[in-house]
Amino acid sequence: MNHEFLDLGLQPLANKYLTKTNNSNNSKQYYRLKVGFNKKTKLVSLLKKIPDKKMFDSTYPYKSSMSKTMINSFKKLSIEIKKRFKPKMFLEIGSNDGVLIRNFDRNKVICVEPCSNLAKMTKKKGYTTFNDYWNLNLAKKIKKKFNQVDVIYSANTLTHINNLNDVFNSISFLLNKNGVLIIEDPSFLECIKKVSYDQFYNEHIYVFSAIAVKNIINKFNLELFDIEPLPTHGGSLRYYIKHKDNKNIKIKKSVSFQISKEMKFGLQKFSTYVKFGKAVENSRKKLIKIFIDLKNKKQKIIGYGATAKACTVLNYCNLDNKIIDYFIDTTPDKQNKFMPGKNIKIMKYSKKLLNNANYIYLGAWNFKNEIFNKEKKFIKNGGKFITHVPFPKII
Ligand code: TYD
Repeated sequence: MNHEFLDLGLQPLANKYLTKTNNSNNSKQYYRLKVGFNKKTKLVSLLKKIPDKKMFDSTYPYKSSMSKTMINSFKKLSIEIKKRFKPKMFLEIGSNDGVLIRNFDRNKVICVEPCSNLAKMTKKKGYTTFNDYWNLNLAKKIKKKFNQVDVIYSANTLTHINNLNDVFNSISFLLNKNGVLIIEDPSFLECIKKVSYDQFYNEHIYVFSAIAVKNIINKFNLELFDIEPLPTHGGSLRYYIKHKDNKNIKIKKSVSFQISKEMKFGLQKFSTYVKFGKAVENSRKKLIKIFIDLKNKKQKIIGYGATAKACTVLNYCNLDNKIIDYFIDTTPDKQNKFMPGKNIKIMKYSKKLLNNANYIYLGAWNFKNEIFNKEKKFIKNGGKFITHVPFPKII
């Protein structure tokens, strides 16, 4: 049973960037974004789940290799996986545009990717790719063809799948008895500390804590043996998981360390989540005030990084094209489209469009360091940024 602690109002589907022609405010395109806590499993999830076929299709715009930070982070990870686990067969669930698997031998990799535009990209490069949703049927199909796999990896994908029991059951079924599952997703502890409520949108059905992951995988005879904190997506955790029967791998202290950190913060208690809900409401009030004050002073504000996260913020705080003139973004699939729900145009990134503004709202706050580094000149010339993380402020 899920207990509601946060209501982010009516929201459009976040990664469905609108073209001019279907840019209407059709109420059918909205859903109510409420978030709840399961007192038994300690899992945080959206109360209304959108069918995955509505979200992950041939138009999915998110590309993992869009940022240098991500490319470097995946390259480093591939070296670590090869050194530590020496997989003869490696499977990635949600292989996206192949940013990780391109660091592996073609004959040692299986890609699973439901979005056909992305699956095409890895297929074209000669990697075995299943253009399909992850479930037990697919796991059976793969087992028939390739037998079991040694390492299964999935970043920012399992939290997008509604039926987590099926997800972990299928993984447990396909994973070699000495195999390793590595998953990484935004950390709820970081989300609550940073009041980054924009981690919630239709695709992020779940936001994991280590406590919740431990509880869910337990049912499938799986257990955590290592946890690594990561800077990606505003603070993520990389979980290393094995079959409980595999005694060859020792459980590292990092597991109890992370779990006790979360317990100290109170992530096992519903009252902590209720407090978070109140902090989110305050954050909204403060952010709106910053925007209104600047607009009253006739300042030109634009957005940087047309993220799915920004979509939640814009719709929750009711920030539209009268407040933010346009967004700039380097992703070709987003350019010349509009931020869902708020009709703010997304323009191709250029220094000229950047320098036109007095203030820039950081939609991609999770890339703050990379962006600040790139925009040193804008900052030196007096340009300012607005962020809501960890609290609304002008930088
Ligand atoms: P991200 O935070 O990964 O996505 P989401 O919230 O949608 O999961 O997306 C970052 C976006 O920011 C992506 O559209 C690319 C854009 N971006 C730029 O335009 N310029 C940059 O320098 C960086 C780092 C990102």
